[in-house]
Amino acid sequence: MARCTQLPAWQVLQEHQWEIARQHMRDLFSADPNRFERYSIRLDDLLFDYSKNRITDKTLGLLFDLAHQAGLQEKIAAMFRGDRINNTEKRAVLHTALRNRSNRPVLVDGVDVMPGVNRVLHQMRLFSEAIRSHEWRGYTGKPISNVVHIGIGGSDLGPKMVVKALTPYCRPELRVHFVSNVDEADLVETIKNLDRETTLFIVASKTFTTQETMTNALSAREWFMAGVESKDAIAKHFVAVSTNAEKVEAFGIDTKNMFEFWDWVGGRYSLWSAIGLPIAVAVGMDNFELLLAGAHKVDEHFRTEPLERNIPVLMGLVGIWYNNFFGAQTQAILPYDQYLDFLADHLQQADMESNGKSVDVEGKRLDYDTGPVIFGQAGTNGQHAFYQLIHQGSKLVPCDFLAAAQSHHHLGGHHEALLSNFIAQTEALMRGKTTEEARAELVAEGVQEECLDMLAMAKTFPGNKPSNSFLYQSLNPETLGALIALYEHKVFVQGAIWNINSFDQMGVELGKQLAKTVLKDMTGDELVTAHDSSTNGLLNYYKSLR
Ligand code: F6P
Repeated sequence: MARCTQLPAWQVLQEHQWEIARQHMRDLFSADPNRFERYSIRLDDLLFDYSKNRITDKTLGLLFDLAHQAGLQEKIAAMFRGDRINNTEKRAVLHTALRNRSNRPVLVDGVDVMPGVNRVLHQMRLFSEAIRSHEWRGYTGKPISNVVHIGIGGSDLGPKMVVKALTPYCRPELRVHFVSNVDEADLVETIKNLDRETTLFIVASKTFTTQETMTNALSAREWFMAGVESKDAIAKHFVAVSTNAEKVEAFGIDTKNMFEFWDWVGGRYSLWSAIGLPIAVAVGMDNFELLLAGAHKVDEHFRTEPLERNIPVLMGLVGIWYNNFFGAQTQAILPYDQYLDFLADHLQQADMESNGKSVDVEGKRLDYDTGPVIFGQAGTNGQHAFYQLIHQGSKLVPCDFLAAAQSHHHLGGHHEALLSNFIAQTEALMRGKTTEEARAELVAEGVQEECLDMLAMAKTFPGNKPSNSFLYQSLNPETLGALIALYEHKVFVQGAIWNINSFDQMGVELGKQLAKTVLKDMTGDELVTAHDSSTNGLLNYYKSLR
């Protein structure tokens, strides 16, 4: 497969960038009153508006050519078919099977994975209903009122984000907590006010070897056993989600309390699997299945819609336009929704762990940029923190805005204020304010002549800053599932064009490896000399301080 930079469309896009770089979106909107209608798509109540981007029909045509030339459609088909597209680990990539509500067979090596998926979903239903109905009791016969989910990375960020997002669907008397950091403060602060008799731990780890999760799980078990006489009590207070039955058993969790998943589920794509167990407990299995249904709807859209009407394809291609042709290094995720406070954290892993790569699928070093740095925050907080740089800084930061038309609450004025900020920000970023406009405002305010030029320049907004907007009726489980799936597939599209493996994460290994040696070197009082001078220095200074 030719490198994307060698594809004919890439070369033409580079020339086309010169044309577009000279145009302002203000003028594109003035020239075409139907720009919004032409550059927006509805998927049920979800509106995707991509009209505030530095694109024309020609740009889009060339980006679609690029997608065709890079074999995007064949790559999409290969993923859904269960081909081993994670080539370094020789694994299929089938998070879409976890939410395959059509139940159409999905084959891996000729074996349909759907019966296994449905079996675990049924097990999750039985368990979550038993907890929620108080049929499941702790060792002293009391119902469970606090669930502590212990995991990290993909075994934490997805479920934590979803549980927060669906807070209005949770029961106040059943609290779900998340512990991930190996920093003991995380576990200690979470359990300090909990009661052993009414607390249940979910230990979630695909491998069941991850240092942070196992350290936290062992300390949680110690805390629990400190007040308990019979070892059998563990069975009522610890369950596991893993692909590694042997390690789960060795930890002391009965494998009948283990929820299985499979090597074809990547960690950062695992919230749809039994890793989503805390979601099912928090909001009920029916809502969990609605979440799956929302994602499945997007899977069908992604699999079947032509590129021109395909939302994740457009998200991915427009992102590549800025990333590779305008030199943008970042992508901001800006949900105008407090319940989506953890969305940027989740998408950070989904995108950066997937597409933070520098070699292609054949192992050849790349000479073009891959995944952007993802960051973001719930609106309007971000406006008072980092938007200054987006509006007037020297960097191009493409932004995604997300908001629900209806709030879950009814305090007068709040939601309208929130949404007016969201819509106004997209307008401000696009339009900007010219120096002449700024000057005229200053004159009207009576500012003295000698300060006018300096102030007018400081108050100039260049505009022409791109954004996508997602607007939907309300943040319910189905819509949330759809939104997450859109971003997962956007990541896929970009990885496919860049010809990288979006489904391994070799880059996290070196630090883990070295931490083992460093941990050994931290014990004892002798001077450490085996590393470079900085690493030795840090270790030795630590020893002098501890
Ligand atoms: O950070 C590396 C990573 O392997 C992630 O991909 C994964 O989500 C996380 O660690 C946790 O892994 P596990 O579920 O095996 O504990």
